[in-house]
Amino acid sequence: MTRAQNAALIRSWDRFGIEFGTTIDIDKFFPAAKEVIVEIGFGMGDATAEIAKAHPENGYIAIEVHPPGIGKLLSLIEEHDLTNVYIIEGDAIEILQTMFANHSINGFHLFFPDPWPKLKHNKRRIVNAEFLTLIHQKLKSGGYINIATDWVPYAEWIRDVFSASIEFTGGEVDRPDWRPYTKFEGKGLAKDHRVSDFHYVAKG
Ligand SMILES: C[S@@+](CC[C@H](N)C(=O)[O-])C[C@H]1O[C@@H](n2cnc3c(N)ncnc32)[C@H](O)[C@@H]1O
Repeated sequence: MTRAQNAALIRSWDRFGIEFGTTIDIDKFFPAAKEVIVEIGFGMGDATAEIAKAHPENGYIAIEVHPPGIGKLLSLIEEHDLTNVYIIEGDAIEILQTMFANHSINGFHLFFPDPWPKLKHNKRRIVNAEFLTLIHQKLKSGGYINIATDWVPYAEWIRDVFSASIEFTGGEVDRPDWRPYTKFEGKGLAKDHRVSDFHYVAKG
């Protein structure tokens, strides 16, 4: 973690951090939000901050395991005077299972999840049948997930996992104009990676 990230953590964690293990009362955090969106694996938080700034009507809860990213997003929250972003540090699966009430979230953002390219590591990919069941349980009726990946085999995997599910409908979409370019995506594009975006809506 850089000194600036650490300083932001010291200054702003108490205001914008949600302690792991607590139960989240969404209405308390965002009493007037049009939508509450949970971002899984925000990296350094550049897309998170830009989207939250562009959509002050929404509330964002951003989850990341990597501490420098937590410090960086806090510094972006300070820089842009954001009041509609909260952060949780930890594993998104455990956090969703234990901290969120069922049917409490309008949408998920999952941008460039770790691709785990080696065959023997494919099972570590966050998108799988259990993940779909978990996010379906946490979404409100008509809730959605937006996913982007720059790894073509992961795009195929995402398509296959969702096609096998009766819980979601949707598929690949054009790049949404509201999704900012991140440094991570830039690196993929520099290597001529094809980026795919997906939008799936929860059924039932
Ligand atoms: C490839 S990076 C993409 C970061 C960011 N979304 C972007 O587009 O720049 C994937 C991120 O997901 C985070 N991550 C992976 N598994 C996670 C999990 N189970 N819970 C929370 N974050 C996770 C990693 O630490 C990493 O920062």
